Amino acid sequence: MNTAQLLALDRIVLVLVAALWLGAGVGTVMAGRDRHTRLIALGLTLAALAATGLRVGLAVALSRSGWWFAADKLVLALPLVGVPALVAAVAALPRLFRPSPSPATAAPTLTAGYGALGGVVAALTVSHPVPPVLSGVLVALVAVGATITWRLLGAASRTGDAKTGDGTVARGRWSTTAGIAVLCAALVWAGLSAWSSRIPATLDLGAHHRGTDIQPATATSAVTDLRGPATGAKVRRFTLTAKPATVTLASGRRVEAWTFDGTVPGPTIRVRQGELVEVRLRNAMPDIGVTLHWHGYDVPVGEDGVAGVTQDAVKPGGEFVYRFLAEDPGSYWYHSHDLSDPAVRMGLYGMLVVDPAAKGASTSPTAASPGFPSGASDTSGGPAGSGSSTGTGAKVSDHTVSTHVLGGIQTVAVDDEGPVDGLARLRVTPGTPVRLRVTATDNVRRTLGLSGTPYRIAAVDGRDLSRPGEIGDRRVQLAAGGRYDLTFTMPAAPVLLSVDGRSDLGLLVTPGSGTAPAPAAGPLLDIATYDSDDHAKPGGSGRPDRFDRFDREVTWILDRGLAMLDGIPTLAHTVNGEVWPRITTPVLREGELVKITVANRSGDVHPIHPHGHHVRVLSRNGVPATGELWMDTFDVGPGEVWEVALRADNPGIWMSHCHDLGHAALGMTFHFAYEGVTTPYDAGHASGNNPE
Ligand code: C2O
Ligand code: CU
Repeated sequence: MNTAQLLALDRIVLVLVAALWLGAGVGTVMAGRDRHTRLIALGLTLAALAATGLRVGLAVALSRSGWWFAADKLVLALPLVGVPALVAAVAALPRLFRPSPSPATAAPTLTAGYGALGGVVAALTVSHPVPPVLSGVLVALVAVGATITWRLLGAASRTGDAKTGDGTVARGRWSTTAGIAVLCAALVWAGLSAWSSRIPATLDLGAHHRGTDIQPATATSAVTDLRGPATGAKVRRFTLTAKPATVTLASGRRVEAWTFDGTVPGPTIRVRQGELVEVRLRNAMPDIGVTLHWHGYDVPVGEDGVAGVTQDAVKPGGEFVYRFLAEDPGSYWYHSHDLSDPAVRMGLYGMLVVDPAAKGASTSPTAASPGFPSGASDTSGGPAGSGSSTGTGAKVSDHTVSTHVLGGIQTVAVDDEGPVDGLARLRVTPGTPVRLRVTATDNVRRTLGLSGTPYRIAAVDGRDLSRPGEIGDRRVQLAAGGRYDLTFTMPAAPVLLSVDGRSDLGLLVTPGSGTAPAPAAGPLLDIATYDSDDHAKPGGSGRPDRFDRFDREVTWILDRGLAMLDGIPTLAHTVNGEVWPRITTPVLREGELVKITVANRSGDVHPIHPHGHHVRVLSRNGVPATGELWMDTFDVGPGEVWEVALRADNPGIWMSHCHDLGHAALGMTFHFAYEGVTTPYDAGHASGNNPE
C-alpha cells in the first residue's frame, strides 16, 4: 500500500475504532442483564482491540514514509485510545467471560471510546506539528469524561444499596463541575482563536523584516523599487483590457465570461527573447479589481501582479503598466491575481510565449536538443503560433493549447482561436516538426495523451528538459497551472491530443485526411524520472549548481482540517497546521540555496506554485529526480513528498500557494520573503486587495 492508501484506510479505521469502543462500552454497561448481551459486549471489545491494533500498525507503517504522516497519531490520537484500551483489556475483558459483570466494569471501555472520539477530533483539527494547547484540551476532556463515568458507574453499581452516600454525590458534583469548567475553557479558547484569526483591516506582508534577527545594516528596498527596466533595445507594447463579454464556444453555446479584450483565453502575448515587454492593463470590469500575474515568468517582484503584495488591485477605470525583459524562452501564462479563483475561472487569463532570440538558438542550452525544435520563430508582430523555424530551417508548427472549464463546459483553445467545447483541429503537412505548448488553466490537473505518433515532453514549465525520451502510449498528468511542451514530427495520419482520456475533447492534428486514432490509454508517466539522467551536463541555466549543500531548509506540510479562517471555523486547506495569513513566512537571504520539502497529508492534490522562482526537483517520494527538471508548479498528490531546491536569486516578497485556487482561497496561501524587502501595499480587509 502506498502512503495515500494508508492515510485513506486510517481515516476509515479511526471512525471504526471510536464506534467499536463506544459500542463495547454501552454493551458492557448492560452486560449484567443476560448472557446474550454479555457476549455481544465481549465481541465488540475484542473487535475494538483489534481495530485499535490495526490503527497502531497503520501509524507505524505511515511513519516509514515520513514522521509528519504519523506524528499526530503516535503522540496524541493513539495514546488517547490506547491507554484506556489497555486498561480495558486487562480489567474489563476478563470480567466479560464471567456472568453478571457490574456496570463499573465498563468504565475503562467507555474511556477508550472517549479517547477514540478524541482521535476523530484530532484527525479533523490536528496537523503537523502537533499543537500543544489543542492536544492538552483533548486530553483534559477525555480525562474529565473518564472521571465522570467512573463516578456514575460506581454509583450505579451500588444501586441496590440505597445509601449512595454524601461523599459519592459530592465527588460526582465535583467531577461534573470540573467537566463543565474544561468544556467552558475549551469553548473560550476556540472563540479566542476564531477572533484572533480574523484578517485585520490592514495587513503588511512586508512586516517580516521587523522584530527578527536581521541586522540593522541590511539595506531595505520596497517592492516598488524592484521593477522591470524602463527602456530596452526593442520594446513590444500590448494593451489588455479586462471586461465582461459573452464568449461563443465552437458549438455555438454562449457563456458569460470575464475576459481580456473580449476573448477567452485573452490575446496570446508572444515575444522574442531579449525584447522588453510592456503591457498596459486597463480595467473595464464593472466591480472587481484586476491584476496581471505572469505565471512562471520570473519577473522582478514589482511586476508580479499580486494585489496587496506587489501592487494595489487595479480598480474599475484604472490601469497599471507592467514591464519586464523577456530573457527566458518558454511557455508561460498570465492571469489576474486579485480574488484569483473566480477571476481565472471566469476567464481572466491568457498565454505568454517567449521565443528564443536567434535562429538556431533553443530554449535549451544545447541547440540540437533531442526534445527537438524549440525553434526560433518568425511570428513577431503577427498572430500567435503557427510559423516557427528550427535551426535547420524546417518550419515548426508551434501552437499554444490551453484547457479550461468555462461556464461549466470543458474546452480547449488553440492559439487565439477561441474555446472549443470538443475537438479542436489543426492542419499540418506530414514531416513538419510540431510543438504544442499545453497549459492547464483550471483548478485540477489534466491527463493528456498523444496518440498516432511517438512524442516527447521537450519542456516543462518553460524550461527544456535535457534528454527527454520518447513517450509511446503513456499518458502524462499536467498540474493545474503547469505547462508541458509536447513535440513530435507530423506523420502521414492524424494525431490526437486527448484530454482526460476523451476522444471528443482535445486537439486533432491532421494532414488533411484519415481517421482519428483512439486516445492514448497507457500507464501514467512519472514526470520526476522522465528526463534522462545526464550527469555530464551542467545546470539548466549554465550554472554548475550543486544540490547537496543547502543554506536553509523549509518544510511545508499540507493538510486538510478544521481551522479558523478569517474568524470562521472552516474545513480548510492548511500548511504546517495553519492557514493564510498565519502560515510562517521563511525569510531568505539573497544567494542562498534553499531546500524545500513538501509533504501532503491530505487526500487532495495540491499543485504548489512558488512565485518568482523555478525550483529544481530533487526527489519525489524519496526517488531522486533524473535529468534537468525545473518547475514552477509541482503537483503534490495525496501522501506524496517532494524535495525541491530554490536558488534565492530574485529578491522580493513572493506569494506561494496551491494552484487549485479554490484551495488557496480556503487557506493554502503563504509566502516567502527576502531579508530587507518591504511592501507599501496592504492585504487587509480595508485595503480592497485580495491576494487570492
Ligand atoms: Cu498562477 Cu499565484 O499564480
Ligand atoms: Cu491544493
